[in-house]
Amino acid sequence: MIKGVIFDLDGVITDTAELHYSAWKALCEEMGWHFDRQLNESLRGISRLDSIRTIMHHNKASLDPDRIAELAERKNKIYVESLGGMTEEDFLPGARELLTHLRNEGFGVALGSSSKNAVKVLQQLNAIRYFDFIGDGNTVAKSKPAPDIFLHAAAQLKLPPNRCLVFEDAEKGIDAAKAGGFHCVGIGPEERVGHADIRFDSMKEATLFEVKSHFKDLF
Ligand code: G6P
Ligand code: MG
Repeated sequence: MIKGVIFDLDGVITDTAELHYSAWKALCEEMGWHFDRQLNESLRGISRLDSIRTIMHHNKASLDPDRIAELAERKNKIYVESLGGMTEEDFLPGARELLTHLRNEGFGVALGSSSKNAVKVLQQLNAIRYFDFIGDGNTVAKSKPAPDIFLHAAAQLKLPPNRCLVFEDAEKGIDAAKAGGFHCVGIGPEERVGHADIRFDSMKEATLFEVKSHFKDLF
């Protein structure tokens, strides 16, 4: 029986992709690197350092590790500043309703995000109260597609992976959930999350009723 639900943050609870895009774009302009929305898409779900490495690889750039860390920090400053404008209005449609239903029905609820800014984002949304455990980019060493963040969150909920459902919008996030033995819900297009157990175009369609109907033997 499913007793726990683990949520990714960016692209599931709220849409920060545009803010990440603007921050990376600003850094890339300073560096004379190419950056576009397609490249931004490929950063969905992966850590900040893996992101800058991906951008550098795309631009055939090479720098020493200290300089890379410095640039990642610069991007982060721009990103964090842009989070200041985020409010309770910035939940993705359907996300807050789903969290409320899950809490009302007594499910364990955890966050499993790659972002080191997850607590800040949840604070801006006034969403801390929905979570029994918050796992973020500081929680485990190996980020998605490794299953570690989800395994850690499940352990905190005191549940084995097969009693938890993971909500993810990233290809590598679904890979991580599957590698950990979790049931998973993909949010987004077929080409990105078609390998999830069930897929919805957006969180608006991913109601508890729909999810339960799909996994009916597990609820
Ligand atoms: C999420 C986003 C990624 C982002 C990562 C790290 O997984 O989908 O695009 O790179 O978090 O975020 P951070 O806030 O730590 O830079
Ligand atoms: Mg995501």
